[in-house]
Formats: sequence, C-alpha cells, structure tokens
Amino acid sequence: MDIQDRIIYNIGVLATAEGRTPHKGKEQGDIKQIENAYIAIKDGIISKIGSGEVDKNLIGKNTELIDAQGKLVTAGLVDAHTHLVFGGWREHELALKLKGVPYLDILRQGGGILSTVRSTRSSSEDELYEKTSEALEEMLKLGTTTCEAKSGYGLSLEHEIKQLNVVKRLNESQPIELVSTFMAAHAVPEEYKDNKQGYVDLIINDMLPFVAENKLAQYCDVFCETAVFDKEESRKILTTAQKLNMGAKIHADEIDAIGGSQLAGEIHAVSAEHLIVAPDEGIKSMADGGTIAVLLPSTSFYLDKTFARAREMINQGVPVAVASDFNPGSTPNLSMQLTMNIASYKYKMTPEEVLTAATLNAACAIGKADKVGTVEVGKQADLLIWNAPNLDRIFYRYGHNQVKTVIKCGNIVVNN
Ligand code: NIG
Ligand code: FE
Repeated sequence: MDIQDRIIYNIGVLATAEGRTPHKGKEQGDIKQIENAYIAIKDGIISKIGSGEVDKNLIGKNTELIDAQGKLVTAGLVDAHTHLVFGGWREHELALKLKGVPYLDILRQGGGILSTVRSTRSSSEDELYEKTSEALEEMLKLGTTTCEAKSGYGLSLEHEIKQLNVVKRLNESQPIELVSTFMAAHAVPEEYKDNKQGYVDLIINDMLPFVAENKLAQYCDVFCETAVFDKEESRKILTTAQKLNMGAKIHADEIDAIGGSQLAGEIHAVSAEHLIVAPDEGIKSMADGGTIAVLLPSTSFYLDKTFARAREMINQGVPVAVASDFNPGSTPNLSMQLTMNIASYKYKMTPEEVLTAATLNAACAIGKADKVGTVEVGKQADLLIWNAPNLDRIFYRYGHNQVKTVIKCGNIVVNN
C-alpha cells in the first residue's frame, strides 16, 4: 500500500455505522466500534482502517501524523434539514411564544415565515451570503461537515433563486458540503393570499422547471400543514418535481396531521420531516414507501410540543435520521450536538441509534451516502475527533461543544 497523506492514530474508539443505504429497525443501532484504531487518508479519501500499531509501510517523510490522544472518533455530522439562508432574526416572537400564542397564529397574522420572507426579500445576495457564512462557521466548529439547505423565504422566482445562488456560492467557498432543496411551497406569499391556486400554478409551471433546468436544487420540499398547503396541493407540487428528476421531501405532521406522512409513502418521497404528530397510518405508509423519517427534536423542544414517536417508527421499519431544522422561527438552533442530545433524551434512542441517525441515515436523506456518513475505506475522510473517550460520554454530557477537531475531505478545518 502507498505512502499516506495523513494518519490519525491513537484513537481510543472509532464508532461508525457502515454502508450506503438507510439503516432501519434493529440495524438503526448497529454500530461498529474499534478500539485503539487508526485511519489512513490519501487524497482526501479513507484508504485504510486498522487497530494497534500503525503499519510502517504507510508512513513516508511527508505523512502527517495526527495523535487522537485516546479520544473518540466518528464520521462528520450530517445535518439533513435546515432553512439556512434567511434575512433577519425573529427574537421579537419569543415574547409571543412565551405567552402561548400558537406558531400558526403568528403566521396567520402575517408574522412567522412571512416576516422572514420580507427580510429575506429586502436583503441582497451578498448580505445573505455573509450572514449564512457566519452560521456555517459556527456549524463547522460544532462538527457539521455536510448540510442540507432549503430555500423558501423568497416565495418568488427572483428571491428563491437568490437564496439558491447563495448556497451554490457557499458550496465553493467554505468546507461544509451543501445540498439544496427548493421550497417555494413553504408558505403562501402575501401577494397571493387570496389566490393560493395561482401560487401553486406558479410553482409548478414556472419555478420548478427553471430550478430543475438550471440544476439549482436536488430536492423539492412542501410545508404540508393546516392553512399552508394541503395534501393534494402538496402531491401536485412534489410529483411535478419528481417528473423533473428532483427528489421529494415533505414537512409532514409538524403541527396538525393532515395526511403528509401518508402522502410521503404514497409517492415514495425520499424523506418526510418533523412527524411530531404522525399517525399510525402515516408511519405504515412511510415504511411501505421506503421513506426516511427526518426528525427534528429541537423544534419540539423550542415549540414546547410533544416529541415524534421515534421508537414506533424504528419498530415499524422506518429509518430515522435527526437534523437541526435551523431556522429563525421554530428553532434557531444550529447545533447537531444539542439535537443529538435531545433526540436521545426525549425519543429514548440509544447513542448508537442516534449516531446512525445523525450520520448514515442523514446522508441517505440527502443523497450523499456514497461519499459521507460513515468511516469506511473509500469514503471521504470527513471525521471528528471528540473531547470524549467514548460514545456514551458525548450523549451523557450536553450544552457545550464536545468536538475537538474537525476534518473535512482529509484536511483539518477546525481545531477547537
Ligand atoms: O421546519 N415549518 C416550516 N418551516 C420551518 C419553520 C420556518 C420558520 O418558522 O421560519 C420548520 O419548522
Ligand atoms: Fe423545517
């Protein structure tokens, strides 16, 4: 075997899921743990994983040796659901929320998503670029190495493209790999408030073909919710996207169960997301349709809602991923570490199950599992060295950054 570019040695425990397909049922918690491990990296790709003494033939005079000091190493975290690009923040809504004003009431009064639409429309592409790069910098320090980004605060072709362009530019200028989802069906814009059908037609006839043709997004998402888009409107938008070779995602059963998870399975959506109030039929439909559940525990926490029935989903054979849902309204949290802690405490998922959810299954939900999501020979060297000796420790402790070193494509990009 060739001389390697980098070798991480003295790894206390290497913990990883394995494979390129979503893990469901009992497999959700199948993790490989190798003690006293080392990982060799060549051209940004993992070329060898071993344990004990590092094979001397791998070390040349230019090989960089990284001592993991007996710590835990995992794959980089994959955040499969964010609303990354937005103008403004909405701290003024906190007081309303604390008084118990429901999330959808704030939206109905022209606040919520619609207030972020106003601030996003009035921001230039460069302003959005600057603001989003700050968020990405924080995410990287917290261990996120791959991230999905939804549009949906533009709600017109011009402003949706502006958001998607920001993601495109950031994909080339900073380490976190980004996957774009087109989500003009996030709310009905004020100018269409008496003509929702007209807005659905605009998405289907004008926006989607343009986004697909210019390859501005790989996925399409719809907020299937009371007073937003109903099941049939969601079906129309998502099946149009599928015909244009975009994968379907759906915000389903976040506040009211109006058929979103059932629809997800019926159209074989790649993922259904939120699922806080998903009914039994929805879970069954997702299992039958091969849909991944992307659960967002910090949203339940922040909105003071119940928590999705993750155990039921696992038992029914639905692969579970977890994601931050970072956005200015329902959860301004961008930490995958906090997300994983809450997932474990509130979904009662084991550390092994949550690790799969935040790496392999999340990578599958955004079409990246051939390259990222596990620590295996042939995959990209996206790795985290944790300030912890084992997997249980990072779930047991919470509230501070436990990531020590972040490696993206074989390069050290953060040393906390
Ligand atoms: O996933 N529910 C819809 N979209 C986001 C919230 C967006 C916002 O409030 O700005 C969510 O919760
Ligand atoms: Fe969301």
